[in-house]
Amino acid sequence: MINSQISLPAILLAVMRGQPKAQQDAHYPGWHLAPVTGLMNDPNGFIHFNGRYHLFYQWNPLSCQHQHKCWGHWSSEDLLHWQHEPLALMPDSDYDRNGCYSGSAIDDHGRLTLCYTGNVKFDEGTRTAFQCLAVQNAEGRFEKQGPVIALPEGYTGHVRDPKLWRCGQHWYMVLGAQDLGRRGKVLLFRSADLREWENMGEIAGSDTGGLGAAGYMWECPDLFTLGHHTYLLCCPQGLPQEPQRFLNTYSSAYLSGKFDEQTLTFQHGPLHELDAGFEFYAPQTTLTADGRRLLVGWMGVPDGEEMSQPTIGYGWLHQMTCLRELSSRNGKLYQQPIVELQALRGDMQTYEGSANAAPWLSAQRLELRVESSGGITLNFADTLILEWQQDQLRLARRSLHTGEWLVRYWTGAVRGLHILCDHSSVEIFINDGEGVMSSRYFPTQPALLTFSGDNPLRARYWSLRACPVE
Ligand code: FRU
Repeated sequence: MINSQISLPAILLAVMRGQPKAQQDAHYPGWHLAPVTGLMNDPNGFIHFNGRYHLFYQWNPLSCQHQHKCWGHWSSEDLLHWQHEPLALMPDSDYDRNGCYSGSAIDDHGRLTLCYTGNVKFDEGTRTAFQCLAVQNAEGRFEKQGPVIALPEGYTGHVRDPKLWRCGQHWYMVLGAQDLGRRGKVLLFRSADLREWENMGEIAGSDTGGLGAAGYMWECPDLFTLGHHTYLLCCPQGLPQEPQRFLNTYSSAYLSGKFDEQTLTFQHGPLHELDAGFEFYAPQTTLTADGRRLLVGWMGVPDGEEMSQPTIGYGWLHQMTCLRELSSRNGKLYQQPIVELQALRGDMQTYEGSANAAPWLSAQRLELRVESSGGITLNFADTLILEWQQDQLRLARRSLHTGEWLVRYWTGAVRGLHILCDHSSVEIFINDGEGVMSSRYFPTQPALLTFSGDNPLRARYWSLRACPVE
């Protein structure tokens, strides 16, 4: 049975009707990547290939529901100006009929090759998954090659999100998985030719490698070495909530440690939260031409309050985070906005004095750097409130369901904040990237940022120009 609901004419019609409507929404981002219409979730296939950056994305062009997942495609020469590319994959084969799920891209001897999960659901509620390849042809189209890995033994149908890389003579792949005891795991596979794959076992997971119970499914793994450490990014579902950490419906986390290339084992410490804001999930990294490790995440979380976001009224849902450069300090991951984004800045303005007397700023498209010893509050249009205390940040906004105030925390002494605003999103970088809080918010536009508190602050700020995808 193939998927008969998705077709190019249906997608074209959805885009023709949907795009003008989405553009009317004052919450539509000015310089972040977002779907022209419909629902976007994970970044996929982020790669520098043949002199251009490519970023693919989980996309349902037909509605704001998690259905019909295709791979949309953008490309850019400079990581700032992006252009639309033809739809890369749609779920029209037997082995991917319920979605061309997340995956990654590699350069296979000069051919841009995608590896993704073909998701297949059965009527009785079960599912299976195939890891599949698609190779770009001379016309630029992606030709599906079909599955190369069927469901490995010992796991449920939840096995997905292949992230591939090359090391020596081999290709390696990490895969998110759920074992038969309903524990989330990351599997490692190895191949000489991308077609035949060998299961090298579990490298991390719940009840594994010194971790206790850490969730029933781990999605979107990504493994890379940066500085003296190897990092494993993962998205554990079902992680126990702590009073001030892992508070979102699903969390995005990382492990830091050493990967032994001989034994293919990963020794690591505890789980760290990758982003402490309300919306962040399914990040993916790649290397730039000049060797930087960049990360982009989905500024959304599945199954929480996403279906109450007001942009659905304009037919679109979700956006990406800004692109971030990663660095490694003492086994901790730091994230900072890529320097390329500085090209969006208008003239710099400054303020020094008490928070109470600080000017009101337009938060629509804003970059702000603030230094203070705390005791101040940043109020984004009365919709998102950041309390900068001596030893922690408290970020509060109202539930879209109940109206009650919800809070996210970042714990530690805060010296400085670097904040990026874009219509309906705020990304807060703490202490030059030691922490990040990414969140959507839906203020009445044009949104104002105001400051309060007796304590002093020093601020530099820029309005940012829009940079829409062409
Ligand atoms: C994460 C995720 C992935 C899956 C994709 C489907 O958000 O659930 O595990 O491949 O989204 O869109």
